[in-house]
Amino acid sequence: MLILGIETSCDETAAAVVDEEGKIRANIINSQVAIHAQFGGIVPEVASRQHLKNILPIVERCLEEAGVSLADIDLIAATRGPGLVGALLVGYTFALALARGRDIPIVGVDHLQAHILAVFLGPPPHPAFPFIATLVSGGHTAIFLVRDPMDISLMGTTLDDAAGEAFDKVAKVLDLGYPGGPVISKLARSGDPAAISFPRPLLRSDDLNFSFSGLKTAVITEIKKNRGHHKTEDVCAAFQEAAIEVICAKTLAAARETGINDIVVAGGVAANPRLRRLMADTCETAGRRLFLPPADLCPDNGAMIAHGGYHTFKAQGPTDISTDVYSRAVFHET
Ligand code: KG4
Ligand code: ZN
Repeated sequence: MLILGIETSCDETAAAVVDEEGKIRANIINSQVAIHAQFGGIVPEVASRQHLKNILPIVERCLEEAGVSLADIDLIAATRGPGLVGALLVGYTFALALARGRDIPIVGVDHLQAHILAVFLGPPPHPAFPFIATLVSGGHTAIFLVRDPMDISLMGTTLDDAAGEAFDKVAKVLDLGYPGGPVISKLARSGDPAAISFPRPLLRSDDLNFSFSGLKTAVITEIKKNRGHHKTEDVCAAFQEAAIEVICAKTLAAARETGINDIVVAGGVAANPRLRRLMADTCETAGRRLFLPPADLCPDNGAMIAHGGYHTFKAQGPTDISTDVYSRAVFHET
C-alpha cells in the first residue's frame, strides 16, 4: 500500500510517499520561512497564497522522486487540522480533487496525532503502547496518553503560548529572525545557561500544564533592561534551559503519574539538540525509555501525515468529506 501525504497546516507545503510499513519513498518540503521572515512571523493569508502556488509542483516532484505515478497511490492523506484555516483548505481541497478525479480513497489526518506517530517512521526500536507523548511545536505544547494510534487523550497543555512560539518571540526581540528555534539552539551552544536566571513556570505545579508566556516576558524584559550587557549566546542558553527543563520535568511527571515506561517527545521543538540530550539523561536516570522521531521528521512534513493517514484509514476507513476541514482534534480530554 502506498500513501501520498499532503501537509499545508502552517507555512510548509509538504508532500510525501510512504508505504504501509512506514518506509519513506519521497519526502518533499517547501518552506515559506524566507517569505514570512520579513514580517517576523507567519502571515496566514500569505501562507495560503504560497500553498496555492506550490502545492501542484511539490506533489508532482514528490511522485517523481518516489518513482511512482498517481495510478500507484492507494490512499491520499491530507492534514485536516488543527492549523491555519486558509492554509488547511488549500491542501485538503487539492487532495480531495486528486482523490475524486482518480477515484482514490482520501483520509483527513489530525496534525498532532501525525506529529506523535512520526516516531514510528524512524528506525526501531519503537515505543510500546501505551506511551506518554509530549508534543512541543510552534502551535501546541501538550502531554498525551497514547493508548493506541487512534486512542489519544490529553493530560496537560499550555495555558498560554506554545514552546515554539516562545522561541520565536524571544528570537524576534533579539533580532535573530524567524523561526527562532533553530537559531536560538545554535547560539545557545556557545552560551552559558547559568549566566541569567529565568523562571521555570509551573515547574512545581501539581498538574501537567505548561505556561511559557511569563518566561517569554521575563526574557524580553531582561533583554530590554540590560541591552548590551548580556551576550546574546547567554540569553539564548539561559532561556532555552528554562523552557527545556520544564518540558522534561512535566513529561517525567506524566510518566510517573501513569506508571508508564515509554516516552515520546515530538513536534518542531523536539528537533532541539539540548532538549533531546536533557530528555535522554532524564529518562535514563528515571529508568524510562525515550523515543524521539528523527530530527528531520520533527518539524511539519508530509511523511508524518501519510503515516497518520494510514492508521486513521485502517481504523476508520475513508473520511466522510462532508466533515469539517478544521474539525476537532482526534484526542479527547481525560
Ligand atoms: O511542528 P512545527 O514544524 O510546526 C507546528 O506544528 O507548529 O514546529 C515549528 C516550531 C517553531 O516555533 C520553531 O521555532 C520550533 O518549532 N523549532 C525549534 C527548533 N527547530 C524548530 N525550537 C527549538 N529548537 C529547535 N532546534
Ligand atoms: Zn506541526
